[in-house]
Amino acid sequence: MSRITCPILQGKVTSAERAAEFIQDEDSVGMSGFTGAGYPKLVPSALAKRMAAAHTRGENFQIGLWTGASTAPDADGVLAAVNGVSKRLPYNSDPTMRALINAGEVDYIDAHLSHSAQNLWFGFYGNLDVAVVEVAAILPNGLLVPSSSVGNNKTWLEQADKVILEVNSWHPRELEGFHDIYYGTRLPPHRKPIPLTKPMQRIGEPYLRVDPAKVVAVVETNHRDRNAAFDPPDVRSEAIASHMLDFLRHEVAANRMPPHLLPLQSGVGNVANAVMASLQHSEFEGLVAFTEVIQDGMLDLIDSGKMVAASATSFGLSDTGAQHFLDHIDSYKGKILLRSEEISNHPELVRRLGVIAMNGMIEADIYGNVNSTHIMGSAIMNGIGGSGDFSRNAYVNFFLSPSTARDGAISAIVPMVSHVDHTEHDVQIIVTEQGLADLRGLSPADRAERVIANCAHPDFRDLLSDYVSRAWAARPHARHTPHLLNESLSWHQRYLDTGSMQP
Ligand code: COA
Repeated sequence: MSRITCPILQGKVTSAERAAEFIQDEDSVGMSGFTGAGYPKLVPSALAKRMAAAHTRGENFQIGLWTGASTAPDADGVLAAVNGVSKRLPYNSDPTMRALINAGEVDYIDAHLSHSAQNLWFGFYGNLDVAVVEVAAILPNGLLVPSSSVGNNKTWLEQADKVILEVNSWHPRELEGFHDIYYGTRLPPHRKPIPLTKPMQRIGEPYLRVDPAKVVAVVETNHRDRNAAFDPPDVRSEAIASHMLDFLRHEVAANRMPPHLLPLQSGVGNVANAVMASLQHSEFEGLVAFTEVIQDGMLDLIDSGKMVAASATSFGLSDTGAQHFLDHIDSYKGKILLRSEEISNHPELVRRLGVIAMNGMIEADIYGNVNSTHIMGSAIMNGIGGSGDFSRNAYVNFFLSPSTARDGAISAIVPMVSHVDHTEHDVQIIVTEQGLADLRGLSPADRAERVIANCAHPDFRDLLSDYVSRAWAARPHARHTPHLLNESLSWHQRYLDTGSMQP
């Protein structure tokens, strides 16, 4: 049976090539997609072909590409490969796009994910010309069943001048009911409290709305999400997870957390996935997630009954995880809810619910500043994503990383981070495989001592302690966060000089 049962929108079914003709040079295009889930599968490639042909004729053809977060090689990747993007926001992890950003050829606006929709509503990003949004089905009344991510789709559909829908029958039709789309947000000064007081509370409706008059094309697809595989947990990520579990036990014993903990947020990446996997073998029961992405580890926790439910904005599953979800979709009904990212990441809700935030990092400094995004202060890796939305407002936040990168050549604990995403005022717990540094309520001097002793790799501890002592001695009138400025940054320069790292 067709997934498009609305007669008006059925009449707009066309090919991806025809749909792509509605997108012009210099358009801002809002695409669906979040962590490789729910992105349009056909229109980006058709658009890339048009761009390549235009470039061959010597014509300009580049767009501003806005999404929920990362997409996949057949969205970001194909558009980057033909140099078809002039501006990208709010998050990217595609390697081809990353190379263009770092070569200075794409303007990248790396934004907090909870800000991206409201920045458009506020008028800070200019006009949105076209939305290209993947859905799982279109109902007879024109309502849209969202697919495997929600991201910024609600805002793109409301704000864009023209809308292209991709209806993807690879997604199970049973996805209907897995979403909660809140239409109550208002602009200041008319904002009201968001009426969500429990992680799994429904405050909206299961469907996205679209004005059929704005829909210029509907494209049918049957293509799977990208579903990148995770590295199996290694010794270091298991050690990081084990330190975290000990800490959570300690917090429960100290009555600072209930036995079933508080709602969990887990960031992207291998380490975050490994932490979720470790909870599987812990004594914790009755867990709930209020998070951004549901990775495999979280699905396993739901399967085992350790986790009762998870609210997020997207799946971020491996191929195996996605297949497992498809095979057992009925068992997840009522246990998984996908929301717009302006809600899943909303500071008001993260603060109200008392979320435990766990996010990866590139490096931390001795005083507790964290760099999540940049290599050597200059080259972007991915982006801040939701890490700031959650950590700044969390009940307690963790930043996780192996203590060294590049086969031990680079220390993840440094005198001064080469780029700051999360400041010393926000960062609470730093964890590496070496141990955990609880920085809550500590002065900068005490933080430095603890971070070095507990988190730095033994190969770098003496160097870091020596730095701290010399900075202290050299700054008799500036001992709050004493630094030797030339030396703190030459710490990074050293890697460049020895060739351990190319930015
Ligand atoms: N110096 C240089 N490179 C470093 C580094 C350091 N201190 N630390 C990590 N890296 C490199 C790794 O070598 C690896 O590079 P490669 O892909 O070329 O091999 C890459 O960064 C990823 O590191 P990895 O150890 O595999 O970690 P990860 O998969 O757990 O990801 C982040 C870590 C920080 C990149 C990732 O968590 C991220 O992008 N965070 C920001 C967004 C975020 O937190 N989102 C979640 C919000 S819900």
